[in-house]
Amino acid sequence: MVFDTALTRLLGIRVPVVQGGLQWVAYAELAAAVSNAGGLGIINALTQPDAEHLRAEIRKTRSLTDEPFGVNVTLLPALNPPDYPAFMKVILEEKIKIVETAGNSPGPIIKQLKAAGIIVIHKATTIRHAKAAIKLGVDVLSIDGFECAGHVGESDIASLILLGRARQELGDTPFIASGGFADGYGLMSALSLGAAGMNMGTRFLATVEAPIHINVKKAIVEADEHQTTLILRRWKNTSRMFTNKMTAEAVKIEKESEKGEFAEIAPTVSGAKGRQVLEGGDIQHGVWYAGQVMGMIHDIPTCAELFARIEREADGVLENLTKSIRSTREGKSRL
Ligand SMILES: Cc1cc2nc3c(=O)[nH]c(=O)nc-3n(C[C@H](O)[C@H](O)[C@H](O)COP(=O)(O)O)c2cc1C
Repeated sequence: MVFDTALTRLLGIRVPVVQGGLQWVAYAELAAAVSNAGGLGIINALTQPDAEHLRAEIRKTRSLTDEPFGVNVTLLPALNPPDYPAFMKVILEEKIKIVETAGNSPGPIIKQLKAAGIIVIHKATTIRHAKAAIKLGVDVLSIDGFECAGHVGESDIASLILLGRARQELGDTPFIASGGFADGYGLMSALSLGAAGMNMGTRFLATVEAPIHINVKKAIVEADEHQTTLILRRWKNTSRMFTNKMTAEAVKIEKESEKGEFAEIAPTVSGAKGRQVLEGGDIQHGVWYAGQVMGMIHDIPTCAELFARIEREADGVLENLTKSIRSTREGKSRL
């Protein structure tokens, strides 16, 4: 199937599939594998210890692929915020063409990126935030439904409704479906709902090229759709995690704490421990992001195999639908 959507045209990619900006996962190896397979690979700026390491990672990605790729800049509240101006300077100096932004108060960064002529994809979990981002000049919205791994927002609206609302409300701005997508069936449903493509996070963790421990990939393959836990709602930072000992402890603290001070839960939900899970493979050691879509993930393919399968499935969906609609007209529905 030859895809021709607002996303493939704007980004210059063959298949309208974007790889999520995955912290501690979205390094050059994965981004290049996704881009080489026909999608948009993304490296995560904050996964690098500082701006000069981001520069090196950008150059490494360029050495691994000639295809387009992007950089994710996530803006989250932090006690010691990263040096965003330094990261931005490198993104501009390295002439990055596509940036995905996510998180709080992205205005100044989006303005800076747009002034430099960079294509901006912004992630939003509500239509209100998506519309605010359009006013700031973003080119594409990535609409993250409640199913998604990581920061689900505080509205709990699942992809089916959120995407329908995006189609009704976002006018001419293209949007990508994100949260709960893993295959060609998902891609075709995203396109049917009016999206210009799909974003996948958890699915790309379970690929050969994801530079994380094999135990994490196997845990995703073995888990079903029930094995995620929402934590940090009390602090309005609700996050979907792989269910384990540490999420159970976090939920307990969240319920039982009288003061509700973040310091009480901070050691349990430590990002450093989450990183150690991905690198060291002890899946109980800390909290780590995963989506409900785990229930649909049953193997660990290469990105090239995954994309070939997605394209095959998309072809099959189109063929079945066409047959079904034709036979419905002939009075023998196959649906
Ligand atoms: C391990 C992991 C790390 C993530 N880190 C980030 C991040 O730093 N910034 C961000 O915008 N999204 C992050 N996400 C969310 C993904 O980019 C994506 O929106 C989400 O995974 C989509 O839902 P899905 O997992 O159902 O495909 C992360 C997801 C995972 C699984």
